[in-house]
Amino acid sequence: MPTNPKSHVRTTLAPLRLRAARLDLPLVSEENVTLLTWSHECIVGVQAMDDQHGILMDTLNDLRHMLVRGNNRREISLQLERLIEFTQMHFQSEEQLLEQQGFPGAHEHRTAHQALLARLYTALEQVNREETVHFSSLLEFLPAWYLDHVEQLDQPYGKWLNEHGVL
Ligand SMILES: [Fe+2]
Ligand SMILES: [Fe+2]
Repeated sequence: MPTNPKSHVRTTLAPLRLRAARLDLPLVSEENVTLLTWSHECIVGVQAMDDQHGILMDTLNDLRHMLVRGNNRREISLQLERLIEFTQMHFQSEEQLLEQQGFPGAHEHRTAHQALLARLYTALEQVNREETVHFSSLLEFLPAWYLDHVEQLDQPYGKWLNEHGVL
């Protein structure tokens, strides 16, 4: 994983015409194809959590590749389940750390995690239920979801833990 990145690189790929036989949508538009890359804004400053965020980013990018390639609904659903499983593990690990260290916002952080997880479950339900899966909206949702978590929610605990000697 790069250690000194400058910023998020919004890599775009040429629009891909996906095989209609495998996908409900014939085209994923270019502006929706966003690759998450590591950046300063992603660094929380606690090594174990940064490592887990890196794995989370890889899992999200794998899912994004599957969406762009036009993997079928079952494969997308399984990858979303893997993402949810890892996210649950990461959230538990983070919550345990915050509680152990006495972080003042630990309770609110746990509540925010539940809301983030609920959004993933909603996305999974949509993939499993809807006749037409909105792949382009999923491609918009996934990076936004990641950034809400790592760049917004997690940053304050990183600074606080560093000040209390946890690196
Ligand atoms: Fe996190
Ligand atoms: Fe978190």
